[in-house]
Amino acid sequence: PLPSTESTAPSIEGIRTILVIGSGTMGSQIGMAAALAGYETTVQDISAESLAKARAELTARMEATVAKGRLAAAEAEAALGRLSFATDLDASAAGADFVIEAATERLDIKEQIFARLGQVAPEHAILATNSSTLGASKVAAATGRPDRVCNMHFFNPALVMKCVEVVRHRATSQATVETTLELARRLGKQPVLINREVPGFIANRLMGAIQKEALALAAAGIASREDIDTTARTALGHPMGPFELMDMVGLDVIDFIAQATYAETGDAADRPDAQVAALVAEGKLGRKSGQGFYAYPAPGT
Ligand code: 3HC
Repeated sequence: PLPSTESTAPSIEGIRTILVIGSGTMGSQIGMAAALAGYETTVQDISAESLAKARAELTARMEATVAKGRLAAAEAEAALGRLSFATDLDASAAGADFVIEAATERLDIKEQIFARLGQVAPEHAILATNSSTLGASKVAAATGRPDRVCNMHFFNPALVMKCVEVVRHRATSQATVETTLELARRLGKQPVLINREVPGFIANRLMGAIQKEALALAAAGIASREDIDTTARTALGHPMGPFELMDMVGLDVIDFIAQATYAETGDAADRPDAQVAALVAEGKLGRKSGQGFYAYPAPGT
């Protein structure tokens, strides 16, 4: 092959097979969205248990969508047929035209994954990270193809939320940007382009500002969490109030994002919130643990 001094990023027509790394909340639904859009998709995870859970959840979700009359049974079946689950990264990456990494938000883990992808993914493949805190520039060098690396940041729940933030770093090629934006559109999303890496991109910066204000109002006893959430819904038209949203995203994730942002900016205004950190320390992580700012009954009770 020719040395890759010039971008060889494929056009959208060159994208047929997608690999999603990580089968957590984000990875599993991103994989399902890709399969629904007609792509042969593999969701890869080192944990077979997590893959089994993802498969069960996605199957149940497709069944519910069919039951609501939102999707034809045959389409759901075909989409699930295009979706496979695997533990072997090398084998999964070997045939991928586009990789979306949605693994644990840890730089050392991501560096390892991207270094490996650089070796085993086809030369033309675009390697994207769903990270909201780690700019792709942090892992791009390890791949040997920094021009084909960018952030492709989805929102929770990824099957529903329309936004995808595409973030280019200094070396990302125009072809990579265009193909990634178009892929997001083909997944039924409305992508936005961020021209320079900045902690939190757009959405998490906006969300963080609202959350910070909500936490301050509640901590000062000015209004209850319930009333703050009600106000966000009824005065601002937000689908969820800030406390409900933090519980849905996961307080550990909220705390992690704040820590990562603070580490990067050093700005006192970005300091992680003590109420959130205290709940995390008590194991109260939000909806997924049954308790966060609010209590959530276990499913089926
Ligand atoms: N997974 C998949 N689909 C889901 C879902 C989930 N967890 N929860 C709800 N849905 C689907 C429902 O099945 C339903 O589908 P339908 O239209 O086909 O029937 C649809 O979403 C609407 O759901 P509901 O009617 O049950 O409830 P709502 O109308 O309240 O919608 C919501 C639920 C879409 C989650 C809405 O409340 C919402 O938009 N909330 C805000 C979400 C948000 O802000 N996300 C961004 C978080 S930040 C982030 O992800 C960034 C990261 O870096 C932290």
